[in-house]
Amino acid sequence: MKILITGATGLVGRKLVKQLLSEGHKINFLTTRKEAVDSLPNCKGFYWDIENSSIDESCIKDVDKIIHLAGASVANRWTKRYKKVIIDSRVIAAQLLFKTLKENKHSVNQFVSASAIGIYKHSYDSNYNEEDRSFSSGFLGEVVQQWELAADAFSTLNINVTKVRIGVVLANKSGALQKMAQPILFGFGAPLASGKQYVSWIHVKDLTQLIVFLLDSNDAGVFNAVAPNPVTNSALTKAIAMQLNKPLFLPNTPKFVLKFVLGEMHEMVCDSQKVSSLKIEKEGFIFQFKTLEKALKDLL
Ligand SMILES: NC(=O)c1ccc[n+]([C@@H]2O[C@H](COP(=O)([O-])OP(=O)(O)OC[C@H]3O[C@@H](n4cnc5c(N)ncnc54)[C@H](OP(=O)(O)O)[C@@H]3O)[C@@H](O)[C@H]2O)c1
Repeated sequence: MKILITGATGLVGRKLVKQLLSEGHKINFLTTRKEAVDSLPNCKGFYWDIENSSIDESCIKDVDKIIHLAGASVANRWTKRYKKVIIDSRVIAAQLLFKTLKENKHSVNQFVSASAIGIYKHSYDSNYNEEDRSFSSGFLGEVVQQWELAADAFSTLNINVTKVRIGVVLANKSGALQKMAQPILFGFGAPLASGKQYVSWIHVKDLTQLIVFLLDSNDAGVFNAVAPNPVTNSALTKAIAMQLNKPLFLPNTPKFVLKFVLGEMHEMVCDSQKVSSLKIEKEGFIFQFKTLEKALKDLL
């Protein structure tokens, strides 16, 4: 298959590209940085400038599937201006792809869009499945709803739309795990807020396998991409400390401190989303890293 990937140069994208290449697929990718066009070996890079609606239309030539992973990091301070960057890099980007397909001859049969479990409302009790409509009214909830809506539009072009609601991705060199491990390594790690909030995580290898599984099945719909065993922030912090062989002696970082330091962004670490992986498992997907212990042992 020939696959066009946006956000291919990121944490998830790079791993996914490697896997798809190893399975013999051809990869085109879109990057917002001209200097990155030749950065992925054995792939063909194309430049796009989302703000100015500019895209190299030859990127869709002979493409069977599109995977839309692009998005500005949500881990930078949410100023009014940066919030727009977060939204546009996902939504306007998807709309630009849509316009490109609508106005050109193409052979795309599936649009796989990254989405996020941040769409679900903060709750300590709910175990969210894909049918749940309890959406968060916080900023992330709003972003993800707009992102999914932009993805849905592709179905009007008779393209299968697959939305992958990604949990907290655990990887070894960057991402959330590195951010959590660093203070623990320096001896000042602590659970955040009450520590009771659920973190629905996924090992990056399982995530890339899951995306490939959805490409192979050509399944349309929403799929949670989280491991079968979500844990609380407290349990996660303790498990990382144990894996790194570091003591944890500080009390929990209070919520008001997180609010002061992170501003509105504190919702990212304080909100609780316990998310179910049952749907994708029923489809036949088998997780390699079902438990946090196994994932951390592999990554740290
Ligand atoms: N990692 C997680 O824990 C997690 C959890 C839930 C959802 N997700 C979502 O999954 C997707 C992939 O995640 P990731 O961790 O691989 O992200 P990442 O490492 O931050 O990479 C995202 C990619 O998006 C592109 N990008 C950055 N800023 C952009 C902008 N302003 N406009 C357009 N494109 C831009 C970049 O590619 P170029 O520089 O080449 O353009 C970058 O490589 C993201 O959409 C993310 O929100 C991730």
